[in-house]
Amino acid sequence: MPFLIIDGKEIEVKKGTTILEAAKLAGIEIPHFCYHPGLKPAGTCRMCLVEISGNPKLQTACTTEVQDGMVVNTNSPAVKKAREEVLSFLLYDHPLDCPICDKAGECLLQKNYNEHGSTEIPVKEEMIRREKKVFISERLILDRERCVLCTRCVRFLEEITGTRELLVSKRGDNSEIDIFQGIPVNNLYSGNLVDICPVGAITDLDFRFKARVWFLKEIPSVCPLCGRGCNIFIDVKGEFFPSLSKERIFRIRPRYSEINKYWICDIGRYKLAELDKNRIANPILLEPNGVREVSFEEALMSFSHYFKEPDKVAILSSYHLTNEENQLIKMIFYDKMGIKNIGYTGFRDGKGDNILLVSDRNPNRKGVKKLWGDDIEKRTQEVFQLMRRGNFNFLLLIGDEILEDENVFLSVRETFTVWILSRYNELYHNVRVILPMRNFFEKEGTFTNIDGIDQSFSSALPPFKNVPSLKDIISQISSLSGIKIEKELCERS
Ligand code: SF4
Ligand code: SF4
Ligand code: FES
Repeated sequence: MPFLIIDGKEIEVKKGTTILEAAKLAGIEIPHFCYHPGLKPAGTCRMCLVEISGNPKLQTACTTEVQDGMVVNTNSPAVKKAREEVLSFLLYDHPLDCPICDKAGECLLQKNYNEHGSTEIPVKEEMIRREKKVFISERLILDRERCVLCTRCVRFLEEITGTRELLVSKRGDNSEIDIFQGIPVNNLYSGNLVDICPVGAITDLDFRFKARVWFLKEIPSVCPLCGRGCNIFIDVKGEFFPSLSKERIFRIRPRYSEINKYWICDIGRYKLAELDKNRIANPILLEPNGVREVSFEEALMSFSHYFKEPDKVAILSSYHLTNEENQLIKMIFYDKMGIKNIGYTGFRDGKGDNILLVSDRNPNRKGVKKLWGDDIEKRTQEVFQLMRRGNFNFLLLIGDEILEDENVFLSVRETFTVWILSRYNELYHNVRVILPMRNFFEKEGTFTNIDGIDQSFSSALPPFKNVPSLKDIISQISSLSGIKIEKELCERS
Protein backbone atom coordinates (compact mmCIF):
# COMPACT_ATOMS: atom_id res chain seq x y z
CA MET A 1 0.00 0.00 0.00
CA PRO A 2 1.47 3.40 -0.97
CA PHE A 3 2.50 5.66 1.84
CA LEU A 4 2.55 9.46 1.59
CA ILE A 5 3.05 12.58 3.65
CA ILE A 6 0.45 15.25 3.13
CA ASP A 7 0.81 18.59 4.93
CA GLY A 8 3.10 16.82 7.38
CA LYS A 9 0.60 14.01 8.09
CA GLU A 10 1.70 10.46 7.31
CA ILE A 11 -0.90 8.20 5.76
CA GLU A 12 -1.06 4.84 4.02
CA VAL A 13 -3.74 4.38 1.36
CA LYS A 14 -4.97 1.74 -1.07
CA LYS A 15 -3.24 1.56 -4.45
CA GLY A 16 -5.08 3.74 -6.96
CA THR A 17 -6.22 6.33 -4.39
CA THR A 18 -5.95 9.90 -5.66
CA ILE A 19 -4.25 12.65 -3.67
CA LEU A 20 -7.63 14.36 -3.15
CA GLU A 21 -9.13 11.21 -1.64
CA ALA A 22 -6.02 10.49 0.44
CA ALA A 23 -6.22 14.04 1.80
CA LYS A 24 -9.87 13.46 2.70
CA LEU A 25 -8.88 10.34 4.63
CA ALA A 26 -6.28 12.42 6.48
CA GLY A 27 -8.95 15.02 7.33
CA ILE A 28 -7.60 17.59 4.86
CA GLU A 29 -10.06 19.20 2.49
CA ILE A 30 -8.78 20.15 -0.94
CA PRO A 31 -11.10 22.63 -2.69
CA HIS A 32 -12.64 21.39 -5.92
CA PHE A 33 -15.46 21.84 -8.44
CA CYS A 34 -15.31 19.05 -11.00
CA TYR A 35 -14.41 16.24 -8.59
CA HIS A 36 -17.41 14.24 -7.37
CA PRO A 37 -16.94 11.01 -5.39
CA GLY A 38 -19.61 9.23 -7.46
CA LEU A 39 -18.07 10.11 -10.85
CA LYS A 40 -14.80 9.44 -12.63
CA PRO A 41 -12.27 12.27 -12.28
CA ALA A 42 -12.13 14.78 -15.13
CA GLY A 43 -9.49 17.31 -14.05
CA THR A 44 -11.24 20.19 -15.78
CA CYS A 45 -11.56 22.94 -13.16
CA ARG A 46 -7.95 23.14 -11.77
CA MET A 47 -9.27 24.12 -8.36
CA CYS A 48 -7.57 21.19 -6.65
CA LEU A 49 -3.96 21.99 -7.62
CA VAL A 50 -1.35 20.85 -5.07
CA GLU A 51 2.42 20.86 -4.82
CA ILE A 52 4.26 17.53 -4.98
CA SER A 53 7.90 17.54 -3.87
CA GLY A 54 10.28 17.09 -6.77
CA ASN A 55 7.63 18.09 -9.30
CA PRO A 56 8.23 21.46 -10.95
CA LYS A 57 4.54 22.10 -11.72
CA LEU A 58 1.45 22.00 -9.55
CA GLN A 59 -0.69 18.89 -10.13
CA THR A 60 -4.43 18.26 -9.96
CA ALA A 61 -5.11 16.30 -6.77
CA CYS A 62 -8.30 14.74 -8.17
CA THR A 63 -6.55 12.97 -11.05
CA THR A 64 -3.10 12.21 -9.60
CA GLU A 65 -2.77 8.84 -7.92
CA VAL A 66 -0.69 8.53 -4.79
CA GLN A 67 2.80 7.10 -5.33
CA ASP A 68 4.78 5.54 -2.52
CA GLY A 69 6.88 8.14 -0.69
CA MET A 70 5.06 11.17 -2.13
CA VAL A 71 5.29 14.40 -0.15
CA VAL A 72 2.33 16.70 -0.87
CA ASN A 73 1.71 20.26 0.19
CA THR A 74 -1.86 21.53 -0.16
CA ASN A 75 -1.19 24.94 1.31
CA SER A 76 2.03 26.35 -0.14
CA PRO A 77 2.14 29.96 -1.44
CA ALA A 78 2.12 28.64 -5.02
CA VAL A 79 -0.98 26.53 -4.33
CA LYS A 80 -2.77 29.45 -2.68
CA LYS A 81 -1.97 31.70 -5.61
CA ALA A 82 -3.20 29.12 -8.11
CA ARG A 83 -6.51 28.78 -6.24
CA GLU A 84 -6.97 32.54 -6.19
CA GLU A 85 -6.36 32.68 -9.91
CA VAL A 86 -8.82 29.89 -10.69
CA LEU A 87 -11.48 31.63 -8.61
CA SER A 88 -10.76 35.04 -10.17
CA PHE A 89 -11.08 33.49 -13.59
CA LEU A 90 -14.45 31.94 -12.72
CA LEU A 91 -15.72 35.13 -11.15
CA TYR A 92 -14.89 37.25 -14.22
CA ASP A 93 -18.07 36.12 -15.83
CA HIS A 94 -20.12 34.98 -12.89
CA PRO A 95 -23.35 36.93 -12.37
CA LEU A 96 -23.07 36.96 -8.54
CA ASP A 97 -26.80 36.64 -8.14
CA CYS A 98 -26.49 34.72 -4.87
CA PRO A 99 -29.40 36.68 -3.31
CA ILE A 100 -31.80 35.02 -5.74
CA CYS A 101 -29.95 31.76 -6.38
CA ASP A 102 -31.40 28.52 -4.98
CA LYS A 103 -27.90 27.13 -4.46
CA ALA A 104 -26.78 29.94 -2.15
CA GLY A 105 -25.72 28.41 1.14
CA GLU A 106 -24.80 25.11 -0.52
CA CYS A 107 -22.72 26.51 -3.40
CA LEU A 108 -19.12 25.41 -3.89
CA LEU A 109 -18.25 28.70 -5.59
CA GLN A 110 -19.39 30.62 -2.51
CA LYS A 111 -17.58 28.19 -0.21
CA ASN A 112 -14.35 28.09 -2.19
CA TYR A 113 -14.29 31.85 -2.63
CA ASN A 114 -14.87 32.44 1.09
CA GLU A 115 -12.09 30.04 2.01
CA HIS A 116 -9.58 30.52 -0.80
CA GLY A 117 -10.49 33.57 -2.88
CA SER A 118 -8.62 36.83 -3.18
CA THR A 119 -10.40 40.08 -2.41
CA GLU A 120 -8.98 41.57 -5.59
CA ILE A 121 -10.96 40.33 -8.55
CA PRO A 122 -9.60 41.79 -11.78
CA VAL A 123 -12.50 43.39 -13.61
CA LYS A 124 -12.93 42.47 -17.24
CA GLU A 125 -13.97 45.26 -19.54
CA GLU A 126 -16.97 43.48 -20.88
CA MET A 127 -18.60 40.57 -19.08
CA ILE A 128 -19.95 37.88 -21.37
CA ARG A 129 -23.70 37.62 -20.87
CA ARG A 130 -25.31 34.23 -21.39
CA GLU A 131 -28.81 32.77 -21.31
CA LYS A 132 -30.22 32.50 -17.81
CA LYS A 133 -33.26 30.33 -18.37
CA VAL A 134 -32.75 27.36 -20.66
CA PHE A 135 -35.12 24.44 -20.08
CA ILE A 136 -32.97 21.33 -20.38
CA SER A 137 -35.88 19.11 -19.31
CA GLU A 138 -39.50 19.57 -18.30
CA ARG A 139 -38.47 20.68 -14.85
CA LEU A 140 -34.74 21.49 -14.94
CA ILE A 141 -33.53 24.97 -15.85
CA LEU A 142 -29.98 25.80 -16.88
CA ASP A 143 -28.49 29.21 -16.13
CA ARG A 144 -25.47 29.44 -18.41
CA GLU A 145 -24.06 32.48 -16.62
CA ARG A 146 -23.73 30.51 -13.41
CA CYS A 147 -22.17 27.43 -15.00
CA VAL A 148 -18.50 26.79 -14.14
CA LEU A 149 -18.16 24.12 -16.84
CA CYS A 150 -17.15 21.42 -14.40
CA THR A 151 -18.87 18.77 -16.61
CA ARG A 152 -20.30 16.90 -13.63
CA CYS A 153 -23.72 16.98 -15.31
CA VAL A 154 -22.34 15.65 -18.60
CA ARG A 155 -20.43 12.87 -16.85
CA PHE A 156 -23.43 11.88 -14.70
CA LEU A 157 -25.49 11.33 -17.84
CA GLU A 158 -22.66 9.35 -19.42
CA GLU A 159 -21.56 7.25 -16.47
CA ILE A 160 -24.69 6.71 -14.38
CA THR A 161 -27.74 6.84 -16.66
CA GLY A 162 -25.92 6.29 -19.96
CA THR A 163 -28.44 8.62 -21.61
CA ARG A 164 -25.95 11.34 -22.64
CA GLU A 165 -28.46 14.16 -23.10
CA LEU A 166 -25.98 16.95 -22.24
CA LEU A 167 -22.69 17.98 -23.80
CA VAL A 168 -20.22 20.85 -23.82
CA SER A 169 -20.75 22.67 -27.08
CA LYS A 170 -18.65 25.35 -28.81
CA ARG A 171 -15.04 26.20 -27.95
CA GLY A 172 -12.92 28.40 -25.66
CA ASP A 173 -14.70 31.39 -24.15
CA ASN A 174 -17.91 30.35 -25.88
CA SER A 175 -18.04 26.83 -24.39
CA GLU A 176 -21.39 26.06 -22.86
CA ILE A 177 -23.57 23.19 -21.69
CA ASP A 178 -26.25 22.23 -24.18
CA ILE A 179 -28.71 19.44 -24.86
CA PHE A 180 -27.56 16.94 -27.46
CA GLN A 181 -29.32 17.30 -30.83
CA GLY A 182 -32.06 19.43 -29.24
CA ILE A 183 -33.48 16.48 -27.27
CA PRO A 184 -34.13 17.44 -23.63
CA VAL A 185 -32.95 15.50 -20.59
CA ASN A 186 -35.43 12.70 -20.09
CA ASN A 187 -34.47 9.97 -17.68
CA LEU A 188 -35.61 8.75 -14.29
CA TYR A 189 -32.58 10.15 -12.48
CA SER A 190 -32.55 13.70 -13.86
CA GLY A 191 -33.10 15.38 -10.48
CA ASN A 192 -29.61 14.32 -9.40
CA LEU A 193 -28.22 16.93 -11.81
CA VAL A 194 -29.44 19.64 -9.44
CA ASP A 195 -27.63 18.06 -6.50
CA ILE A 196 -24.35 17.45 -8.30
CA CYS A 197 -24.13 20.83 -10.01
CA PRO A 198 -21.67 22.54 -7.64
CA VAL A 199 -23.24 25.95 -8.30
CA GLY A 200 -26.75 27.16 -9.04
CA ALA A 201 -26.51 26.53 -12.77
CA ILE A 202 -29.11 23.75 -12.78
CA THR A 203 -32.22 24.46 -10.75
CA ASP A 204 -35.43 22.56 -10.31
CA LEU A 205 -38.91 23.98 -10.93
CA ASP A 206 -40.02 21.95 -7.94
CA PHE A 207 -37.86 23.97 -5.52
CA ARG A 208 -37.05 27.15 -7.46
CA PHE A 209 -37.38 30.29 -5.32
CA LYS A 210 -39.32 28.40 -2.62
CA ALA A 211 -36.93 28.64 0.32
CA ARG A 212 -33.47 29.70 1.42
CA VAL A 213 -31.70 26.50 2.34
CA TRP A 214 -30.49 27.81 5.69
CA PHE A 215 -34.08 28.04 6.89
CA LEU A 216 -34.69 24.35 6.21
CA LYS A 217 -34.13 21.39 8.47
CA GLU A 218 -32.90 18.14 6.93
CA ILE A 219 -34.32 14.93 8.36
CA PRO A 220 -32.53 11.69 7.47
CA SER A 221 -34.99 9.08 6.25
CA VAL A 222 -35.58 6.14 3.90
CA CYS A 223 -37.57 6.38 0.67
CA PRO A 224 -40.72 4.22 0.83
CA LEU A 225 -41.54 4.23 -2.88
CA CYS A 226 -39.83 1.01 -3.88
CA GLY A 227 -38.14 -1.99 -2.33
CA ARG A 228 -34.64 -0.52 -2.73
CA GLY A 229 -34.99 1.75 0.30
CA CYS A 230 -32.72 4.58 -0.83
CA ASN A 231 -31.45 6.78 1.96
CA ILE A 232 -32.78 10.32 1.70
CA PHE A 233 -32.98 13.68 3.38
CA ILE A 234 -36.41 15.22 3.78
CA ASP A 235 -36.06 19.01 3.93
CA VAL A 236 -38.77 20.58 6.06
CA LYS A 237 -39.29 24.01 7.65
CA GLY A 238 -36.64 24.82 10.20
CA GLU A 239 -37.27 26.64 13.46
CA PHE A 240 -36.69 30.11 11.99
CA PHE A 241 -38.46 29.62 8.66
CA PRO A 242 -39.54 33.16 7.81
CA SER A 243 -42.86 32.77 5.99
CA LEU A 244 -46.30 31.36 6.70
CA SER A 245 -46.04 29.00 3.73
CA LYS A 246 -48.36 26.01 4.18
CA GLU A 247 -45.86 23.78 2.41
CA ARG A 248 -44.59 21.07 4.76
CA ILE A 249 -42.04 19.30 2.55
CA PHE A 250 -39.62 21.35 0.45
CA ARG A 251 -37.16 18.89 -1.02
CA ILE A 252 -36.29 15.23 -1.12
CA ARG A 253 -32.56 14.65 -1.66
CA PRO A 254 -30.25 11.64 -1.69
CA ARG A 255 -28.29 10.76 1.44
CA TYR A 256 -25.18 8.69 0.85
CA SER A 257 -25.41 5.01 1.72
CA GLU A 258 -23.96 1.78 0.37
CA ILE A 259 -27.46 1.06 -0.97
CA ASN A 260 -27.98 4.09 -3.20
CA LYS A 261 -24.53 5.75 -3.17
CA TYR A 262 -25.11 9.43 -4.04
CA TRP A 263 -28.32 9.13 -6.07
CA ILE A 264 -32.07 8.66 -5.92
CA CYS A 265 -34.60 8.26 -8.72
CA ASP A 266 -37.09 10.94 -9.76
CA ILE A 267 -40.01 8.92 -8.41
CA GLY A 268 -38.62 9.12 -4.89
CA ARG A 269 -37.61 12.74 -5.38
CA TYR A 270 -40.78 14.16 -6.88
CA LYS A 271 -43.61 11.79 -5.89
CA LEU A 272 -42.90 11.32 -2.21
CA ALA A 273 -44.32 14.67 -1.06
CA GLU A 274 -47.66 13.66 -2.63
CA LEU A 275 -48.13 11.24 0.26
CA ASP A 276 -48.78 14.31 2.41
CA LYS A 277 -51.59 15.70 0.20
CA ASN A 278 -55.40 15.37 0.69
CA ARG A 279 -55.11 14.42 4.32
CA ILE A 280 -58.02 13.16 6.37
CA ALA A 281 -58.34 14.91 9.72
CA ASN A 282 -61.28 13.20 11.45
CA PRO A 283 -63.04 9.83 11.51
CA ILE A 284 -65.93 9.61 9.05
CA LEU A 285 -69.07 7.48 9.07
CA LEU A 286 -70.50 6.87 5.60
CA GLU A 287 -74.13 6.05 6.23
CA PRO A 288 -76.98 5.54 3.72
CA ASN A 289 -78.39 8.92 4.71
CA GLY A 290 -75.14 10.83 4.49
CA VAL A 291 -71.55 11.25 5.46
CA ARG A 292 -70.58 12.68 8.83
CA GLU A 293 -67.43 13.39 10.74
CA VAL A 294 -67.52 11.81 14.18
CA SER A 295 -65.29 11.36 17.19
CA PHE A 296 -62.88 8.44 17.35
CA GLU A 297 -64.95 6.90 20.14
CA GLU A 298 -68.15 6.98 18.08
CA ALA A 299 -66.38 5.57 15.04
CA LEU A 300 -64.83 2.74 17.06
CA MET A 301 -68.12 1.91 18.80
CA SER A 302 -69.82 1.52 15.43
CA PHE A 303 -67.86 -1.64 14.63
CA SER A 304 -66.18 -3.00 17.77
CA HIS A 305 -68.83 -5.74 18.22
CA TYR A 306 -67.73 -7.43 14.98
CA PHE A 307 -64.55 -8.64 16.65
CA LYS A 308 -66.59 -11.03 18.82
CA GLU A 309 -66.66 -13.39 15.83
CA PRO A 310 -63.03 -13.48 14.69
CA ASP A 311 -63.75 -16.11 12.00
CA LYS A 312 -66.03 -13.61 10.30
CA VAL A 313 -63.37 -10.89 10.22
CA ALA A 314 -60.69 -10.34 7.57
CA ILE A 315 -57.86 -7.82 7.65
CA LEU A 316 -56.01 -6.53 4.60
CA SER A 317 -52.91 -4.61 5.41
CA SER A 318 -50.19 -2.85 3.46
CA TYR A 319 -46.59 -3.55 2.49
CA HIS A 320 -45.96 0.09 3.44
CA LEU A 321 -46.37 -0.50 7.16
CA THR A 322 -43.24 -0.63 9.29
CA ASN A 323 -41.95 -3.82 10.88
CA GLU A 324 -43.03 -2.48 14.25
CA GLU A 325 -46.60 -1.83 13.06
CA ASN A 326 -46.77 -5.29 11.51
CA GLN A 327 -45.55 -6.92 14.71
CA LEU A 328 -48.35 -5.17 16.56
CA ILE A 329 -50.94 -6.33 14.02
CA LYS A 330 -49.70 -9.88 14.44
CA MET A 331 -49.58 -9.75 18.23
CA ILE A 332 -52.95 -8.14 18.72
CA PHE A 333 -55.20 -9.18 15.86
CA TYR A 334 -53.74 -12.61 15.11
CA ASP A 335 -52.43 -13.88 18.44
CA LYS A 336 -54.70 -12.16 20.96
CA MET A 337 -57.95 -11.62 19.06
CA GLY A 338 -57.76 -14.83 17.03
CA ILE A 339 -58.29 -13.25 13.59
CA LYS A 340 -56.62 -15.68 11.21
CA ASN A 341 -57.65 -14.19 7.87
CA ILE A 342 -54.99 -11.54 7.47
CA GLY A 343 -53.49 -10.64 4.11
CA TYR A 344 -51.13 -8.03 2.70
CA THR A 345 -51.10 -6.01 -0.48
CA GLY A 346 -49.81 -2.65 -1.72
CA PHE A 347 -48.88 -0.60 -4.74
CA ARG A 348 -48.90 -2.43 -8.07
CA ASP A 349 -45.50 -3.39 -9.48
CA GLY A 350 -43.90 -0.92 -11.87
CA LYS A 351 -40.90 -1.04 -14.15
CA GLY A 352 -37.51 -1.48 -12.52
CA ASP A 353 -34.13 -0.56 -13.96
CA ASN A 354 -30.52 -1.54 -13.47
CA ILE A 355 -29.63 1.58 -11.49
CA LEU A 356 -31.75 1.74 -8.32
CA LEU A 357 -35.46 1.49 -9.01
CA VAL A 358 -36.96 -1.97 -8.49
CA SER A 359 -40.30 -3.20 -9.79
CA ASP A 360 -41.74 -3.72 -6.29
CA ARG A 361 -43.09 -0.27 -5.40
CA ASN A 362 -43.47 -1.17 -1.73
CA PRO A 363 -40.78 -0.59 0.88
CA ASN A 364 -41.41 -3.50 3.19
CA ARG A 365 -42.63 -6.63 1.41
CA LYS A 366 -39.49 -8.36 2.65
CA GLY A 367 -40.21 -7.35 6.25
CA VAL A 368 -43.77 -8.68 5.96
CA LYS A 369 -42.46 -12.00 4.61
CA LYS A 370 -39.91 -12.26 7.40
CA LEU A 371 -42.68 -11.82 9.96
CA TRP A 372 -45.53 -13.80 8.39
CA GLY A 373 -43.65 -16.28 6.24
CA ASP A 374 -42.91 -16.47 2.52
CA ASP A 375 -46.40 -17.78 1.80
CA ILE A 376 -48.11 -14.52 2.82
CA GLU A 377 -48.99 -13.77 -0.82
CA LYS A 378 -50.68 -17.17 -1.18
CA ARG A 379 -52.55 -16.64 2.08
CA THR A 380 -53.67 -13.22 0.88
CA GLN A 381 -55.13 -14.80 -2.26
CA GLU A 382 -57.03 -17.24 -0.03
CA VAL A 383 -58.46 -14.31 1.94
CA PHE A 384 -59.58 -12.72 -1.35
CA GLN A 385 -61.30 -15.97 -2.34
CA LEU A 386 -63.17 -16.12 0.96
CA MET A 387 -64.14 -12.48 0.53
CA ARG A 388 -65.60 -13.23 -2.90
CA ARG A 389 -67.62 -16.07 -1.39
CA GLY A 390 -69.06 -13.66 1.16
CA ASN A 391 -67.51 -15.41 4.16
CA PHE A 392 -66.93 -12.28 6.23
CA ASN A 393 -69.15 -9.87 8.14
CA PHE A 394 -66.40 -7.39 8.70
CA LEU A 395 -63.38 -6.20 6.79
CA LEU A 396 -60.60 -4.01 8.18
CA LEU A 397 -58.35 -2.30 5.62
CA ILE A 398 -55.09 -0.77 6.81
CA GLY A 399 -53.00 1.59 4.67
CA ASP A 400 -53.51 3.92 1.70
CA GLU A 401 -51.65 1.78 -0.82
CA ILE A 402 -54.08 -1.14 -0.84
CA LEU A 403 -56.35 0.93 -3.07
CA GLU A 404 -54.29 -0.22 -6.07
CA ASP A 405 -55.35 -3.86 -5.61
CA GLU A 406 -58.76 -4.31 -7.23
CA ASN A 407 -59.27 -7.59 -5.29
CA VAL A 408 -59.65 -5.58 -2.10
CA PHE A 409 -62.78 -3.83 -3.35
CA LEU A 410 -64.63 -6.82 -4.74
CA SER A 411 -66.82 -7.30 -1.71
CA VAL A 412 -66.52 -4.15 0.36
CA ARG A 413 -70.00 -2.93 -0.54
CA GLU A 414 -71.59 -6.07 0.90
CA THR A 415 -69.34 -6.27 3.95
CA PHE A 416 -69.11 -3.77 6.78
CA THR A 417 -65.71 -2.26 5.98
CA VAL A 418 -63.48 0.06 7.96
CA TRP A 419 -60.46 1.70 6.37
CA ILE A 420 -57.56 3.12 8.37
CA LEU A 421 -55.66 5.45 6.06
CA SER A 422 -54.11 8.90 5.86
CA ARG A 423 -55.49 10.60 2.75
CA TYR A 424 -58.62 10.75 0.62
CA ASN A 425 -58.73 8.72 -2.57
CA GLU A 426 -61.30 7.92 -5.22
CA LEU A 427 -62.41 4.71 -3.45
CA TYR A 428 -62.89 5.83 0.12
CA HIS A 429 -66.69 6.24 -0.26
CA ASN A 430 -67.00 2.46 -0.80
CA VAL A 431 -66.48 1.74 2.89
CA ARG A 432 -68.57 2.42 6.01
CA VAL A 433 -66.03 3.94 8.36
CA ILE A 434 -62.85 5.91 7.76
CA LEU A 435 -60.25 6.27 10.50
CA PRO A 436 -57.42 8.71 9.80
CA MET A 437 -53.89 7.79 10.78
CA ARG A 438 -50.42 9.34 10.58
CA ASN A 439 -48.59 9.03 7.29
CA PHE A 440 -45.04 8.00 6.43
CA PHE A 441 -43.61 11.43 7.28
CA GLU A 442 -45.18 11.43 10.73
CA LYS A 443 -44.05 8.08 12.03
CA GLU A 444 -40.84 6.30 12.83
CA GLY A 445 -39.97 2.67 12.33
CA THR A 446 -38.04 0.15 10.28
CA PHE A 447 -38.37 -1.17 6.73
CA THR A 448 -36.58 -4.25 5.44
CA ASN A 449 -35.43 -3.59 1.90
CA ILE A 450 -35.39 -5.95 -1.05
CA ASP A 451 -31.96 -7.29 -0.01
CA GLY A 452 -33.10 -7.96 3.55
CA ILE A 453 -31.39 -4.90 5.06
CA ASP A 454 -33.28 -3.37 7.99
CA GLN A 455 -33.27 0.43 7.89
CA SER A 456 -34.87 2.63 10.49
CA PHE A 457 -36.12 6.16 10.07
CA SER A 458 -37.56 8.82 12.32
CA SER A 459 -40.53 11.12 11.84
CA ALA A 460 -39.97 14.23 9.73
CA LEU A 461 -43.20 16.11 10.45
CA PRO A 462 -45.59 16.60 13.36
CA PRO A 463 -48.89 14.75 12.92
CA PHE A 464 -51.45 16.48 10.72
CA LYS A 465 -54.26 17.83 12.96
CA ASN A 466 -53.09 15.48 15.72
CA VAL A 467 -54.27 12.33 13.96
CA PRO A 468 -53.27 9.26 15.97
CA SER A 469 -50.64 6.68 15.05
CA LEU A 470 -51.68 3.27 13.77
CA LYS A 471 -50.37 1.81 17.03
CA ASP A 472 -52.76 4.00 19.03
CA ILE A 473 -55.69 3.04 16.83
CA ILE A 474 -54.94 -0.68 17.13
CA SER A 475 -54.62 -0.49 20.87
CA GLN A 476 -57.95 1.40 21.11
CA ILE A 477 -59.69 -1.18 18.91
CA SER A 478 -58.36 -4.00 21.04
CA SER A 479 -59.41 -2.44 24.34
CA LEU A 480 -62.90 -1.55 23.04
CA SER A 481 -63.28 -5.13 21.89
CA GLY A 482 -62.67 -6.26 25.44
CA ILE A 483 -59.08 -7.30 24.95
CA LYS A 484 -56.61 -5.87 27.38
CA ILE A 485 -53.26 -5.18 25.82
CA GLU A 486 -50.46 -4.43 28.21
CA LYS A 487 -49.00 -0.99 27.53
CA GLU A 488 -45.51 -2.45 27.21
CA LEU A 489 -46.69 -4.65 24.37
CA CYS A 490 -47.55 -1.59 22.29
CA GLU A 491 -44.40 0.20 23.25
CA ARG A 492 -42.25 -2.80 22.45
CA SER A 493 -43.63 -3.11 18.94
S1 SF4 B 1 -24.31 23.03 -15.35
FE1 SF4 B 1 -23.46 22.72 -13.32
S2 SF4 B 1 -22.78 20.59 -13.34
FE2 SF4 B 1 -23.06 21.20 -15.46
S3 SF4 B 1 -21.06 21.91 -16.11
FE3 SF4 B 1 -22.19 23.71 -15.42
S4 SF4 B 1 -21.61 23.93 -13.30
FE4 SF4 B 1 -21.02 21.89 -13.89
S1 SF4 C 1 -35.09 3.83 -6.35
FE1 SF4 C 1 -36.83 3.30 -5.08
S2 SF4 C 1 -36.20 3.71 -2.99
FE2 SF4 C 1 -34.76 4.75 -4.39
S3 SF4 C 1 -35.57 6.83 -4.58
FE3 SF4 C 1 -36.40 5.63 -6.25
S4 SF4 C 1 -38.37 4.89 -5.49
FE4 SF4 C 1 -37.22 5.58 -3.74
S1 FES D 1 -11.40 19.08 -8.83
FE1 FES D 1 -9.50 18.58 -9.67
S2 FES D 1 -9.45 19.57 -11.54
FE2 FES D 1 -11.44 19.95 -10.78
